[in-house]
This record gives sequence, C-alpha cells and structure tokens, in this order.
Amino acid sequence: MHLHGTSKIAPEGHLTIAGVSAVSLAQRYGTPLIVYDEQLIRTRMHEYLDPLRASGVAHAVVYACKAFTSVAMCRLAAEEGLWLDVVSAGELHTALTAKVDPSRILMHGNNKTEAELKMAVEARIGLIVVDNFDEIERLAGITAGATERTNVLLRVAPGVDAHTHEYIATGKQDSKFGFDLQSGQVQRAVQVILKHSSLQLVGLHSHIGSQIFDVDGFRVAAERMAALYAQIEREFRASLSILNLGGGLGVRYTEEDMMPPIDRAVAGILDVTQTAFAANGLTLPMIMFEPGRSLVAEAGTTLYSVGSRKDIPSIRSYVAVDGGMTDNPRLALYGARYEACLANRMLAPADKTVSIAGKCCESGDMLIWDAVLPSPEPGDLLAVSCTGAYNYSMASNYNRMARPAVVFVRDGQARLVLRRETLADLISLDVDEEGSHEGP
Ligand code: LLP
Repeated sequence: MHLHGTSKIAPEGHLTIAGVSAVSLAQRYGTPLIVYDEQLIRTRMHEYLDPLRASGVAHAVVYACKAFTSVAMCRLAAEEGLWLDVVSAGELHTALTAKVDPSRILMHGNNKTEAELKMAVEARIGLIVVDNFDEIERLAGITAGATERTNVLLRVAPGVDAHTHEYIATGKQDSKFGFDLQSGQVQRAVQVILKHSSLQLVGLHSHIGSQIFDVDGFRVAAERMAALYAQIEREFRASLSILNLGGGLGVRYTEEDMMPPIDRAVAGILDVTQTAFAANGLTLPMIMFEPGRSLVAEAGTTLYSVGSRKDIPSIRSYVAVDGGMTDNPRLALYGARYEACLANRMLAPADKTVSIAGKCCESGDMLIWDAVLPSPEPGDLLAVSCTGAYNYSMASNYNRMARPAVVFVRDGQARLVLRRETLADLISLDVDEEGSHEGP
C-alpha cells in the first residue's frame, strides 16, 4: 500500500497517521473506524487555492459536501476559506449547523423540492444552481415579491463526457442534470430566468464527470462555456460574473492511478479557460471549482478488525472484516479498487494473496479482490486507504449494521467528529403505531 499524507510506519511496525498509532485509535474508538488525516485535507484545499490566488483572478473553491459531510468537515472547509456545495436539506442543515456563512453556500440538485428551495431562500444562501425548467418556476414562485433577488447559476450540460476520452456531443448530452447545450434549451432557460424579476442570473455552471485524470476535458468544456457566456451577454444583454467549472479531479486509489498534482491541474485549467474567454473577447469572470473527492479521498483510511478466514484450497482465501459494503459500497457499485495493509504488522513481509470480504449477507460484499498482505489472522487490524470520499457519505444500515465512527487526527491528536451508531440509534426510527381503521 502506498502511504498518503502524514501516514508512516513506526519502528514497532504500526501504521501511524499524523503521529497517532492506528492500533491505539482502534483500541480507543473501536472498529470499523474512519480516520481522516486533517492536515492532508487542508493541504489539498491549498493546492486548489494557491494557483487561484497567485493568478489574481476572482475565485472560489467550493467543497462538494456529498463526498463526506459532517459539522466538523463543514467548519474545516470554511476555516480554509472554501465555500460549500450542498444538494439536499440534510446537507444544507449540516452546513448551517456548522455556522458556515450562508452567502458562501451554493445548492445543487436535479429535483430540489419546494421545501428545500424555501429553506435555501430563507437561509439566504449565496447561489442556487438551477437545473431544469420546473425548478425555475418553483423558485420564481417562492421568491416572487421578495425585496432582494435570488442569485442563480444556470447548470449547463456541455456535452463533454470526461470518462470516454472522446468529447462527443452525444456523451453527456444524455444526462439527467442541467440544460442541454446542443438543443438550445440553455438559451430558452436564460429567457425564462430573465423574465422573473426575483431571480438574478449571475453565471454558468458545468460539471463534466468524476475521477478524471485527463484534464483536457476541462479545456473542451471551458471553450464551450466561454462561447456560451459571450453569446448570453451579447444576445440577452445579461451581465454575468461567475463561471463554475464543477469538480471531478481524480485521486490515487491504487499506485496505478496517475494524477497530475492538483495545483498543476488547476493552473492548467485556468490557463485554457483564460484563452477561451480571450478568444471570445472577454476577461475571466469569477472562477469556481467544486471538488469533492480530490479534497478528502486520500485523507481517509478505514480501520477494520479481521474476524474470520476461509481458505478454499487451490481457489481463494477470504479474509472477513467487521465492516464491508455498509461503510464502503464502492467496489459493489463501481468495481472500485483499493489498497490495504495490516496496520499492526507493517514490517511483516507481504507474501499472501487474500480477498477481503465484508460481513454482510451478500456475496458481492467485497472490499478488495486479491490483496497481497502478510497472511492476515483474526485480531489483525486491516487498514484500507483512500476511503475518505463517497464512503461514509454512501454508508448504509444494511443488515442493521451500525455506521462507523469518524475521527480527525492532526499533530499527534485525535478528535471524534462522528460517533459510532449504537443499537439504540438503529431502532430509533421504529414506531409502534396502532393500525388505522377505515369506515365504521
Ligand atoms: N459538482 C457536482 C455538480 C457534482 O455532481 C459532483 C459529483 C461534484 C461537484 C464533485 O465531484 P468530485 O470532485 O467529487 O468528482 N459516488 C461516486 C461519485 C459521484 C459524484 C457525483 N457528483 C463515487 O463514489 O465515485
């Protein structure tokens, strides 16, 4: 396993993160446990901010909370000067509970409910990213008669599918998100927004995908967005001030994943965007990036206790841990690949190929196929790296498993930011309602 951030091997062979032993964390907080290297999150945030600050361009880095949200995480992002992207009442409530400045929150979603939009408007969040025609009308209804206008960005589906390596117009055109660029929906949406005096169209948004290694997709998107930006200003006499290029930069789940450093990628994207705007006779507006995964994935490590083993002669050895698809559904969902180590025996030779299984009643509940480790035994502490994004946030209670605890570690200190779910939590929604009767 390659080590991220402050992860190191202590002389006695234990994995340490920020100087804190994984073995002592497991003893203190139990397993499964998600440990975040707080300094690494802050470093990644700076890798976005530094090239933007150096450019002198107006900018905001917006943390996509969907990757991992908690009150502590919202506070950390705000402390570093980031905005927050929320996509539901729950994420907005978390951000507001963290006392984040509402003017630095933006809201996404392809089906924001009336209640969510009202909540966002009442909290006076900075921006609502409108996604479809129904939403424009719903938002216009909610804001009608208000003294202040509500700032909106228009989400454009720019027809760039960053996963395919060929930026075909039909790629992401077939998407549930945003207004389609090719068919003229975007222009119609601009007309509709401009009709509503309670809404202020302040800019455009595009998001081209996730876990992207080849940043050239951003160039294609930036070129299309610059041309559109110029056209909207020219034809509709709208004065826009923001371009949000979304998130999507990839991370190194395994050694084979190759990603340029964030600061270089951001500087490159900024450069091609500047060129694209200049080609349309425009200077750069405020530039927003909206990363999730690349800020938190590598900072997260999940610790599990090994519980049982099954060796099928000449076929495979299964090693089962006390978590699984309930805290990390990404292999089951996407075939995601991870690396692991034995956090209590880092110096032992890795000479055994084993497959790491979870404890759910489902054959697909696997964390890693064919990991090479020092032969794991019950009682060992298995660490799976790069589990900081879309793991806890996609965790479930399948099999009525409790969600793990989450700690932040920094400078030799650990702090609990999400406590482990208890059995009482697991039955806390159960009610014993009398059957209701219809008629006499
Ligand atoms: N902005 C928008 C509008 C998005 O839809 C997303 C991610 C982001 C920003 C952040 O993208 P990131 O920087 O994290 O790539 N559950 C999947 C990932 C889903 C991403 C959804 N949207 C996974 O586990 O890989």
